[in-house]
Amino acid sequence: MLRRTVLTSLAASVATPAFGDGYPDRPITLVVPFSAGGPTDLLARVMGERMGKELGQQFIIDNTTGAAGSIGVGKVVRAAPDGYTISIGHLGTHVANGTLYKNLSYDLLTDLVPITRLPSNPLLVVTSNAVPTKSLKELVDYLKANPDKISGGTAGVGSGSHLGALAFFAATGAKYQLVPYRGTGPAVQDLIANQIQVMVDQSSNSLPHVRAGKIRAYAVTAKTRSAAMADIPTAAEAGYPMEVAIWHGLWAPKGTPPDIVAKLNAAAIATLQDPAIKARMEDLGQDLPTSAEMAPAAFGAFHRAEFAKWKKILEDADVKVE
Ligand code: MLT
Repeated sequence: MLRRTVLTSLAASVATPAFGDGYPDRPITLVVPFSAGGPTDLLARVMGERMGKELGQQFIIDNTTGAAGSIGVGKVVRAAPDGYTISIGHLGTHVANGTLYKNLSYDLLTDLVPITRLPSNPLLVVTSNAVPTKSLKELVDYLKANPDKISGGTAGVGSGSHLGALAFFAATGAKYQLVPYRGTGPAVQDLIANQIQVMVDQSSNSLPHVRAGKIRAYAVTAKTRSAAMADIPTAAEAGYPMEVAIWHGLWAPKGTPPDIVAKLNAAAIATLQDPAIKARMEDLGQDLPTSAEMAPAAFGAFHRAEFAKWKKILEDADVKVE
């Protein structure tokens, strides 16, 4: 009798480990829904490298592209909710696509849980150096005078660069042919080579090439100039008010235990509080969220509000997915 009592009390004293207790005990896969070399991939690698140090496990970057990011996001939706497969994306992949792609096989608001908000990128209106214009006004006049001769790169209908192009068309009345890529990493390489002539591209993707003189910047789609690119006027200063920022975030499959989400969130907050990482991101024109904005509940509320806001914008704009 005594022995059974001792064993029973011993068993009871070993609390059942919560899901997160041993997490992570193996590498974590971070699915990037665009090609390597673009702004989402860059952010994923910077976050993954430092979050991996915080959590003591490697982050493996998995570039799964297609359908403006919808393919890669779907891969995470279908993954086990164990914290070992997570999604990075942005306004396009986790908001616009939910309105634009009627046959999406998942619900962006209920089939994923929010982990954390990540930095936002303003957009730069940029052209190849071959385009014979120097100001945004000259560029708009040039596009209007050559309506079918100019091509511009996006990462597909619904991508950040596509939303930027739509905002540019609405603000200027000018248009250009939209050429879809699997990411704006390869698109900007074609811009440098003048295979395409224009992009409205995330600052972290284009700014290094602007600084190197390989492409030309005309305006930034923000309310105020960025300290990282103080010589680039805002679109409003250049004559065409336009404000679009591509915010990013991390998500996990629905059903991922909250204590695992909390561990991932804490590692992301620690990463953005690292002075060297913060300086590197701000040097690329990125705006970092506050720790409060990064809380899962706050990010979830933000995500839902953005979804409702852009659903109306995109339905009113009658955007078609070819
Ligand atoms: C990328 O990472 O390639 C971009 O986010 C694509 C886009 O949304 O324009």
